[in-house]
Amino acid sequence: MSTKIAVLPGDGIGTEITEQAARVLTALGLDLDLQHAPVGGAAYDLHGHPLPPATLELAKSSAAVLFGAVGDWKYDSLARELRPEQAILGLRKAMGLFANFRPAILYPQLANASSLKPEIVSGLDILIIRELTGDIYFGQPRGVRTVSEGNFAGERQGFDTMHYAESEVRRIAHVAFQAAQKRQGKLCSVDKANVLETSQFWRDIMIDVAKEYPDVALSHMYVDNAAMQLVRAPKEFDVIVTGNLFGDILSDEAAMLTGSIGMLPSASLNASQQGLYEPSHGSAPDIAGQNKANPLATILSAAMLLRYSLNENAQAVRVENAVRKVLEQGLRTADIYEAGTQLVGTREMGDAVLKALD
Ligand code: IPM
Ligand code: MG
Repeated sequence: MSTKIAVLPGDGIGTEITEQAARVLTALGLDLDLQHAPVGGAAYDLHGHPLPPATLELAKSSAAVLFGAVGDWKYDSLARELRPEQAILGLRKAMGLFANFRPAILYPQLANASSLKPEIVSGLDILIIRELTGDIYFGQPRGVRTVSEGNFAGERQGFDTMHYAESEVRRIAHVAFQAAQKRQGKLCSVDKANVLETSQFWRDIMIDVAKEYPDVALSHMYVDNAAMQLVRAPKEFDVIVTGNLFGDILSDEAAMLTGSIGMLPSASLNASQQGLYEPSHGSAPDIAGQNKANPLATILSAAMLLRYSLNENAQAVRVENAVRKVLEQGLRTADIYEAGTQLVGTREMGDAVLKALD
């Protein structure tokens, strides 16, 4: 029986970039059944909801989801629950995708793309593991209420709730320790334990789980310091594990260290190897439909899909090598273009990767 993959292109450049990644997946000669469905603003336009039931059903019943990007300024005035971002949050929650892998790798061919000095970033290879289904992102209660007593009595107040249950911290800790074991064996847990109860609890659990991984060196860092160290000496990090909110912020910062967010894939996994794979960048509505977007982050996300959800490691390596090859050939989309390289469009980049697959 063929393996079902849900392809959810979404908005903006999502359509163009997933098309190239789907071509690459199809070219590998595996028995895959790629099924497309609308998501985000595109789904709202068609069905009045960013995550229609049929799209969610397809995603849940697939081995993996290849996701493009969602969002466009034109949906900004919709009620929160109808905005495109709710599709991605809804998929994470409904599929239990608690472990988010965001690698930040500086490709030697793109060493000049970073805004940091080459000696600070050359050879950079860090992995941020972000908890993705808990924290203040999903904590209840939340909303707007009227303050009943104290200084602000009678005023309206916006509020959210930060919390982590022990099992939520334990399971992401295990994922992170095991990832560190496969790399340099260094894990830095990022929190705000000097201020937040949730963070002190997180830290205590990390320390407890560490007993099961004597081969991994665990360290702790406050999130403000981590933000600083990431630009001061990013190569000091191997694997970073952190909660949902801090991970959102630090993973954007880490991505920018490489100067080419158009190159960075991501994977969001649940406990049964099902995963959602998407580029780290957004939907870039300003360049949508112009054959300008860089499809490589999505193609590299497809490689992660092969590795983590399909157990096709050799095929994943094949795709990653093909991407390296087109960079060596000097092909560049506009976001990573520099003098002396060859500017190509989205489709031409996809063609080149297909050709580079051996
Ligand atoms: C991300 C994005 C999302 C998040 C938004 C679109 C809801 O910023 O995947 O990092 O905050 O998690
Ligand atoms: Mg983000």
